[in-house]
Amino acid sequence: MVALPLVTAVQTWDPERYARNARFVSDLGAPVVELLAPRAGERILDLGCGDGALTEKLVGLGCRVVGVDASAAQIAAARARGLDAHVGSGEDLTFDDEFDAVFSNAALHWMKRADRVIEGVWRALAPGGRFVGEMGGDGCVATIVAALSAALARRGHDARAVNPWYFPTATEYRARLEARGFVVQSSALIPRPTALAGDVTGWLETFAESFSTALPAGERPAFLAEVQEALRPKLCDASGRWTADYVRLRFRAAKPLD
Ligand SMILES: C[S@@+](CC[C@H](N)C(=O)[O-])C[C@H]1O[C@@H](n2cnc3c(N)ncnc32)[C@H](O)[C@@H]1O
Repeated sequence: MVALPLVTAVQTWDPERYARNARFVSDLGAPVVELLAPRAGERILDLGCGDGALTEKLVGLGCRVVGVDASAAQIAAARARGLDAHVGSGEDLTFDDEFDAVFSNAALHWMKRADRVIEGVWRALAPGGRFVGEMGGDGCVATIVAALSAALARRGHDARAVNPWYFPTATEYRARLEARGFVVQSSALIPRPTALAGDVTGWLETFAESFSTALPAGERPAFLAEVQEALRPKLCDASGRWTADYVRLRFRAAKPLD
């Protein structure tokens, strides 16, 4: 498997902006929660828990949930919900044999060291535990990435150096899981065109910061406006509603009993 280009991505998470532009992320998490099939009393790690909207749902189902997220601001928002949440990177998990399940929604594609994540998840799980997740998959927001890349190229920048996302195929992620010893029970790429709360600039400001911060601050508004206009004919309908070309990779894998 090829090594992923690591980038010095600049991405900040502002819980207020996240709630305004990205509430759909957790709102659309029901199918992966269903795939997790949580049972009351289970110990669950929510990896990349964000502001804890789904973590809170799992707690409401009677699970004992720990949230981990790399963003201190998101963890503060999760704690404000009364959740057991901690700042930490999914690429450096330190749990050992502690969970019945590791759950992750919309976070794994931000973690480019995928094998380190999978190794940490494996260690965190008790034998017989499961890893259930949904992440961006191959082709996710490809139209948006193309427009960002073209606008950066016009300014002399190579977007590959700042692209923060890892969108694997189902086959590739399955191979990584199996290489660690997981038994993959299901894995599928799911095209999911997603209606945005506002215009695409709100989405770009929330999720694609590392592309615009490649430019001096004074150039960013014009850059974002140019990307929005390039995307308008492809992602905006006649009544002004924007839809992003999301593709999800949803999987369930088991750590066998010893
Ligand atoms: C789109 S949000 C999803 C949050 C939440 N799971 C949800 O469904 O609303 C992605 C989250 O991944 C987190 N994240 C990004 N890289 C991470 C890493 N290396 N380790 C842990 N969390 C990370 C971000 O801080 C952010 O809160």
